[in-house]
Amino acid sequence: MTAIADLFSGPVGVETSALSTADGELFPEERAFIQAAVPKRRAEFATARILARRSLAAFGVPPGPLVPGPDRAPVWPSGFTGSISHCANYCAVVVARRRDVTSLGLDVEDVRELDASLQDLVLTPAERQWIAAQPWAIRPVLPILIFSAKEAYYKCQYPITRGFLDFQDVELGIEWASGTFAARVLKTGWPAAVARLSGRFVVDQDRVACGVALMPR
Ligand SMILES: CC(C)(COP(=O)(O)OP(=O)(O)OC[C@H]1O[C@@H](n2cnc3c(N)ncnc32)[C@H](O)[C@@H]1OP(=O)(O)O)[C@@H](O)C(=O)NCCC(=O)NCCS
Repeated sequence: MTAIADLFSGPVGVETSALSTADGELFPEERAFIQAAVPKRRAEFATARILARRSLAAFGVPPGPLVPGPDRAPVWPSGFTGSISHCANYCAVVVARRRDVTSLGLDVEDVRELDASLQDLVLTPAERQWIAAQPWAIRPVLPILIFSAKEAYYKCQYPITRGFLDFQDVELGIEWASGTFAARVLKTGWPAAVARLSGRFVVDQDRVACGVALMPR
């Protein structure tokens, strides 16, 4: 059981489950959005909607459609923010009131090796150097951890900037012992409010999960 709740402090609702093919629980507009997708993607989408509605219900929000925007980012009910992630047979959704948390970013990945070309894409030279200096026992998981942390950072910053970032635009500093990381945008001119954000991670046998929360000022 990946400890998603450990990634966030404060009043953040967390729901997780295996993927289910419960298309029947979708609203018509959600079903229309996903109808052309392959079964795996439909299961991811449906599971995320079920979990998000469950999480929102705990905050007193009545069930309603959760159709992504044209940029595919989630659109939350007014006054709420959240983040969604799915991997092989797992989905996790986090939700919070915007008065408590400005934006959330969650990413979950199956533990796996990143092949050389993906490592070239994801890791900056400084991150490669840092990995090479780490104990051999943890080294294999570090590329996928950095990948996941960058995705979580991206999802948290996106609702604020609506801007795209390449993996090489963001540099990670990981503190393995404390399960924390700091993400820093390398390209100039990125909005200061999100140019440096910290996050938390958990690693177990099966999955890596990363969470970033932008708190109100
Ligand atoms: C959108 C993206 C972050 C999703 O990450 P992923 O690991 O591929 O997939 P996950 O299962 O973890 O996340 C999927 C969910 O992300 C959410 N998402 C999609 N676009 C998003 C965005 N722009 N901002 C925030 N969340 C987004 C959606 O809720 C989606 O689930 P849904 O389609 O069921 O609603 C990724 O595919 C992407 O496009 N990244 C582009 C930029 C990037 O990666 N830059 C490098 C990091 S800085």
